[in-house]
Amino acid sequence: MIELLEPPRLTVPSTALKTSYLVGEQADMRHRGSDTSWLTAASLDFDAFVAERTGVRERWGVASELFWFASGEYYVGSLVIRHELTDDEGGGHIGYHVVYPWQRQGHATRMLREALVKCAGLDIERALLTVAPENAASIAVVRRNGGVEDSLNDEGEMRFWIDTASA
Ligand SMILES: CC(C)(COP(=O)(O)OP(=O)(O)OC[C@H]1O[C@@H](n2cnc3c(N)ncnc32)[C@H](O)[C@@H]1OP(=O)(O)O)[C@@H](O)C(=O)NCCC(=O)NCCS
Repeated sequence: MIELLEPPRLTVPSTALKTSYLVGEQADMRHRGSDTSWLTAASLDFDAFVAERTGVRERWGVASELFWFASGEYYVGSLVIRHELTDDEGGGHIGYHVVYPWQRQGHATRMLREALVKCAGLDIERALLTVAPENAASIAVVRRNGGVEDSLNDEGEMRFWIDTASA
């Protein structure tokens, strides 16, 4: 296994992570059987790809910010924080993924914990997480971070609330 010299942290997207990001995402997309075509443009102009994803931006009709979870030159995963909920609450406040080569090493659990601290700093007192019922890994991650189950949403996803002050 690769030894990380320091624990990964949430960081702003960075061109310095180009190789690790592209290879990690390609491995993850192929493992999931997902479309990899978006990686072509990203690999041809990574500076533009990063610039388009940096800072607080209006997405899904609300202010949102993307972070990468990384240690040194290693990209581990991505996480988005929506500063407020969309009208249908779709996706909740926080969405994330850990790329396949780095899964099952506790990274998502730690990444979400760090995001909850950021949410507290944004005055989000209770963060909403929505998870498909069949996504056992994400349900475990949310429960390990104190997620309290609420009713299902209209898409049949599980809704969890996390008190960010306890993060
Ligand atoms: C969900 C996801 C982020 C978990 O990332 P991760 O870094 O592997 O999570 P952790 O290592 O913190 O795992 C937490 C626990 O979930 C459980 N888990 C992890 N992967 C699992 C799997 N494939 N099947 C069942 N349980 C799993 C385990 O209990 C694990 O702890 P353990 O390995 O010590 O037993 C990752 O699988 C992923 O990116 N999936 C695709 C995108 C996604 O589902 N995002 C969340 C949308 S709500």
